[in-house]
Amino acid sequence: MSLQRDHKIAVLVSGTGRHLENLCRLAADGTLGGTVTLCISSRPGVLALERAASAAIPAVVLQKEGVESDRAYGVRLFEEIRRSGADTVVLAGFLRKLWIPDDYRGRVINIHPSLLPAFGGKGFYGHRVHSAVLERGCQVSGCTVHLVDDVYDNGPILVQRWCPVEPGDSADTLAARVFEEELRALPEGLRRFWAHDS
Ligand code: GAR
Repeated sequence: MSLQRDHKIAVLVSGTGRHLENLCRLAADGTLGGTVTLCISSRPGVLALERAASAAIPAVVLQKEGVESDRAYGVRLFEEIRRSGADTVVLAGFLRKLWIPDDYRGRVINIHPSLLPAFGGKGFYGHRVHSAVLERGCQVSGCTVHLVDDVYDNGPILVQRWCPVEPGDSADTLAARVFEEELRALPEGLRRFWAHDS
């Protein structure tokens, strides 16, 4: 696939959807190199769904509750993704383990709010990550954009951006500083992925 291609992105969310909004804004500016064609939320009633509606992005809610296995849930999710024509899937605060079918292996990208492999894995999400970074006394933190494989927060890294941990930081202030880096890292990771995608 060439850089010129307008990639189609499915964004999977569970919460506030600030990354979804940022990707939609950059796509509309023409600076992303892709278009968001679908939003899937694992939860109903979240702010991300309102943001999808504001950006006129088709959105569906697919809850894991009541689905018998991760695989069955993944099959259902990727049916929607395939139907949307998306060639790239972004996990932007998607808090569910994802089973990936063969045709989308190596095409799913996650953003995580720490410098992986530190502070990653099951249970490390959102503010839990930043609290753990502060408890450990880290002097730097940051974020990681990586390809998703079968293990939580494990796949090959596309982009990392770092920031200092400041004296007196709370999980909130650190999260805000890391998020500023996340907003740059995710589009950069997507562009890097597409540049090497053949
Ligand atoms: C982001 O900070 C992202 O790094 C984090 O969830 C937030 C989603 O924000 N992801 C994880 O913790 C995954 N382990 P958003 O819904 O406002 O885009």
